[in-house]
Amino acid sequence: FKEAPPKVLVPEKLSADGLALLRGSLDVDERKGLTPEELLDIIPNYDALVIRSETKVTATVLQAARRLKVVARAGVGVDNVDVEQATKLGIVVVNSPSGNIGAAAEHTIALMMSMARKIPEGCASLKQGKWERSKFVGVEVKGKVLGIIGLGKVGLTVARLAKGLGMTVNALDPYASPAVASAASVTLVTSLPELLKSADFLTIHTPLIASTRGMIGEAELAQMKAGSRILNVARGGTIDEAALLASLESGHLAGAAVDVFTSEPPVADSTAAKLIAHPRAVVTPHLGASTVEAQENVSVDVCEQVLDILKGSLPRSA
Ligand code: MLT
Repeated sequence: FKEAPPKVLVPEKLSADGLALLRGSLDVDERKGLTPEELLDIIPNYDALVIRSETKVTATVLQAARRLKVVARAGVGVDNVDVEQATKLGIVVVNSPSGNIGAAAEHTIALMMSMARKIPEGCASLKQGKWERSKFVGVEVKGKVLGIIGLGKVGLTVARLAKGLGMTVNALDPYASPAVASAASVTLVTSLPELLKSADFLTIHTPLIASTRGMIGEAELAQMKAGSRILNVARGGTIDEAALLASLESGHLAGAAVDVFTSEPPVADSTAAKLIAHPRAVVTPHLGASTVEAQENVSVDVCEQVLDILKGSLPRSA
């Protein structure tokens, strides 16, 4: 850059490899824990903004950002960015579509196994000095049916891992390639009721968009087998939290594993908080992409794109 180097705001934790790339030629400000008001206040000073899932890049933030050229989302989901508004203002939004596929898929399998074998409960009990072997009898996943909603990159990786565990895998995805599904020994079903009725475990791997918001509510949960289990490592809001809590409380669902919530962090005393406290819910605080490897991948991935855009070239992923 001939003039002063462009300024980049990084308001969330970003892995060092990507930051090092940026620091080579840009002026990088790491400002964790900014309030929405503080973000609004300082955003006019920056040419690029690199975020994860916590920063809400609203239309107001984008309108205040007089020199912003790029918003980079170190991860897949861009639901915390007003992409439509950014596009209107000529601000490019980039993400890392593949950097955390493996991490999200492995976390799904880890939660499924934790739920099936009651690992969190057994661990907590033993740490309390108890020895309660008969209380924590689990179920095996081998021979069970896994239903997957969304056979994209993460869904397909989950399917392959589940096949390795001896599961039968059914999936619902109107855009999935039948050839890809069949190569992974996944049976594509054509309706949600069909998937819900067949699954011992149901897992969601879709983005949060208008058609997936509240996709699993009371009526859908009621169609699942009594004693089945559900997982959400995708996005809060795809499953209705109140309906999920009610289904656990009634005993219809044997378990729920939830990594993502409608509001993050969940509000105290909310439905999500009650869901988290339920004894048959296995929960993690949005850790699907939280591995060293995935965070390095997404960080390098988006920082390379930021550099390309600020230098006036097309991002390498374009
Ligand atoms: C993503 O969208 O990439 C994941 O949810 C991970 C994250 O929010 O960091």
